[in-house]
Amino acid sequence: MTLKPLVAYKVPFAMPDKLLYIETFGCQMNVNDSERIVTMLADLGYAPTGDPAFADMILLNTCSVRGGAEEKVYKRLANLRIYKRDGKSQIIGVGGCVAQQEGEELLKKFPYLDLVFGTHNLHLLPDMVRGAERGERRSETSFIDNDQRLDLFPSIKGQTRLSRFVTVMQGCDNYCSYCIVPFVRGREISRRSADILDEVRQLADEGVREVVLLGQNVNSYGLKSDNEPTFAELLRMVAEISGIERIRFTTSHPRDMSDELIACFSDIPKLCGQIHLPAQSGSDDVLKLMKRGYSRSSYLERVQKLKESRRDIAITGDIIVGFPGESDDDFEQTLSLLEEVRYIDLFSFIYSSRPGTKAAEFHEELTRAQKITRLDRLMELQKRITREICQTYLGSIQKVMVEGVGKRPAQVSGKADNGRIVNFSGDSGLIGSFVDVRITQAYQNSFLGEQI
Ligand code: 5AD
Ligand code: SF4
Repeated sequence: MTLKPLVAYKVPFAMPDKLLYIETFGCQMNVNDSERIVTMLADLGYAPTGDPAFADMILLNTCSVRGGAEEKVYKRLANLRIYKRDGKSQIIGVGGCVAQQEGEELLKKFPYLDLVFGTHNLHLLPDMVRGAERGERRSETSFIDNDQRLDLFPSIKGQTRLSRFVTVMQGCDNYCSYCIVPFVRGREISRRSADILDEVRQLADEGVREVVLLGQNVNSYGLKSDNEPTFAELLRMVAEISGIERIRFTTSHPRDMSDELIACFSDIPKLCGQIHLPAQSGSDDVLKLMKRGYSRSSYLERVQKLKESRRDIAITGDIIVGFPGESDDDFEQTLSLLEEVRYIDLFSFIYSSRPGTKAAEFHEELTRAQKITRLDRLMELQKRITREICQTYLGSIQKVMVEGVGKRPAQVSGKADNGRIVNFSGDSGLIGSFVDVRITQAYQNSFLGEQI
């Protein structure tokens, strides 16, 4: 994903005399980090551009969660050579999870690369860039102690939008057997609630109407700290902030989905009726091998409670197919989980062995073709479920937060409470407002409607 040059970009500090092109791969955490990078580098006179050919600096913010994501980064890095112009020293840098994993090695492999910065080193970037402007090459990938990290959440400025991410925690201590995140993002840390609330208040003052609270595992927020609230308590505090009309959060671990948090869906009207709750598999045997810490039945029990708390809650999930040891029967159980949960949308992945993880030691029996067949079946089933759920919205009235113009002329676009994109005919003057829209068409990824 490329961070588009921001239309509402205001130069917060200095007049930009240089251009920064930043390409973001992977999860929302990276998108959020890229926004921070843009803010930090504005101080050094860099303004964002959408065209790498005109950029004075090109940064890739990378993901290594699956082998495919990592390969994409390497391909892109190889392509970047063409932008290193003679006579004009364009700076090229890599950050994020691949940078964290490979460190110095990247500087050796790519002689035209100037900067490598890990997931805990964003704060060093301005200094590294100043060095690179003088021709220095540098890699920084040390993990930072939790006490120091608490002060290293540089704020995001000058990027006015209606909806913004707010990081509440980072890292992960769960060590699911397939997952590289704990290795590349480090130990779990909850940000101070006072800092989070200050940031949300400031965003509300700037005109932000929706916040998405962000973390690898938001519902374990505060659990390891004596003097911080639980995530449910934090949600209630955020909901008190006037100006903020909608709250969402992602990602949740099913094991930490407490009754207290589920209750928030019935008593916080600002909390949107949407939750991402990755199951990963519907089979107890596979869940055990994955070290997920919950069973199929306890997952389904959480889902049932969520549905009782907010009748029309839209649930999305993640599933991994072809995990080592996943039998035909295990896979059938995953299919039946989909039927029971009835996700509105599903992100499904073929298992990818990641270096250093526990599952990388497991024996893989399935062929690539068998894994693809399973993925196809899963996606086919999900397509039907998504279609069936979306059809139930036909004729309903959804409150849409209008965020921009639509793809068609004279159309605007926004999100319903359940997170679905809704396009409808309307003037761009509606952007920023909440509009009641009747749904007239339900597509796989969006709704079409008319203002009432
Ligand atoms: N292989 C395949 N999918 C993975 N995910 C995480 N690690 C792997 C892996 N090694 C998926 C999980 C997670 C999502 C972000 O990526 O489903 O929830
Ligand atoms: Fe990875 Fe598991 Fe942590 Fe999620 S909870 S980031 S899947 S280790």
